[in-house]
Amino acid sequence: MPTIHQTVAGTPGRPPERTQVAIIGAGPAGLFLAHLLHRQGIESVILESRSRAEIEGTIRAGVLEQWVVDLMNDMGLGGRMMREGHFHSGITLRFDRESHHIDMAELTGGKRVTVYAQHEVIRDLVSARLEDGGTILFGVSDVQLHDLDGTAPRVRFRRAPDGPLEELRCDHVAGCDGFHGPSRPAIPAADRTEYQIVYPFGWLGILTEAPPSHPELIYANHERGFALLSTRSPEVQRLYLQVDPKDDIANWSDDRIWAELHTRLEDKDGWTLKEGPIFQKGIIAMRSFVCDPMQHGRLFIAGDAAHIVPPTGAKGLNLAVADVLVLSRALTAFYKSGTTEGLNRYSATCLRRIWKAERFSWYMTTMLHRNPHETPFEQRVHLADLDYVVHSRAAMTALAENYVGLPME
Ligand code: FAD
Ligand code: DHB
Repeated sequence: MPTIHQTVAGTPGRPPERTQVAIIGAGPAGLFLAHLLHRQGIESVILESRSRAEIEGTIRAGVLEQWVVDLMNDMGLGGRMMREGHFHSGITLRFDRESHHIDMAELTGGKRVTVYAQHEVIRDLVSARLEDGGTILFGVSDVQLHDLDGTAPRVRFRRAPDGPLEELRCDHVAGCDGFHGPSRPAIPAADRTEYQIVYPFGWLGILTEAPPSHPELIYANHERGFALLSTRSPEVQRLYLQVDPKDDIANWSDDRIWAELHTRLEDKDGWTLKEGPIFQKGIIAMRSFVCDPMQHGRLFIAGDAAHIVPPTGAKGLNLAVADVLVLSRALTAFYKSGTTEGLNRYSATCLRRIWKAERFSWYMTTMLHRNPHETPFEQRVHLADLDYVVHSRAAMTALAENYVGLPME
């Protein structure tokens, strides 16, 4: 059994100086990995640069694929999700002011759309990990990766910004530190290829204290740009608007946001959007990005550290969990039988799923947004694509099976 340590920065107690897997980052990738390894009796320590309150309060994704829901339940972590999450059988695509229901459950043999916010997943995973006696060091800085080419990597870090450099020795490093973390740059530039698209639009997201306006998510393509209606609880709704990624949120008064949402989401049957006070708003830029390979020596990168999808397909969080499931299986095989086969194939195994999620996210994004740099021809092709997808059972099934999540092999 692993040695039990529970140390949170700022509280007394010494963290271990050695562990089997050093995990950088307590996002969905890092936290799921720590739980998956713990279930196999493999020790880990998570080093996280932000505070517990910050990671539990950051508003991000909302949709979980069916297999992620099943995994959380299998791991005994799904109790609150099952009570407080929202389970929809499908989504609505809206264009030309007409609504089209895509019945995911019917098209995929019963798989549903689960809306349960990322920060709620984080809260559930952090508290369960600490209850299990796991180590998460919050608020660390200056994280540096060393000796990744050998069999004894080391991670250096400070527990306080002005504190001494400390060292964690380990067998493997899992770089789960998001797009801007130090892990991806630790793969020598000459050894990695990066593929990228930066979109000329972003999303303005709001949280509003309002009742639900619709029983399921609405993805709308409108001549003024994309809009999305999602939910968080019977009292709180999440909505998004396509905007210029360089726009300043200060230019968006609540009145302007509501006017734009009404216009873009309206349908010809007189459906109305319910308003309420807006208590959180922000703008995010959008990109597609893949790093190949996702490993170097004893370093394995996962989630946003390795790839980014635009949020339209709701894949980001799910893909992070898929990577660490593959990694946990490979590490389990290594510790149980000494085989490195799974670890050697980690990147190739993950990238097969990642490129399919990249394709789907790009497809949903280009089909549903208005891109000012596209020709009128290209814009008409996207409308034809929408028209096709809502009238062809084959196309609808393809959309549905990607949206609820391709099977995990
Ligand atoms: P992250 O969640 O980024 O976690 C990485 C962790 O590493 C963070 O906690 C970070 O603090 C920590 N870290 C970073 N640097 C260091 C360091 N030097 N040392 C130690 N720790 C470090 N996806 C969707 O599907 N739908 C959405 O609506 C959506 N909205 C998003 C909004 C924003 C603002 C962002 C940034 C992403 C959004 N995403 C969305 C994507 C989705 O949230 C991510 O794909 C998901 O968080 C990836 O999980 P991860 O664990 O790989 O990375
Ligand atoms: C949400 C986010 C997404 O990216 C998406 O495609 C659907 C819903 C959300 O935050 O609820």
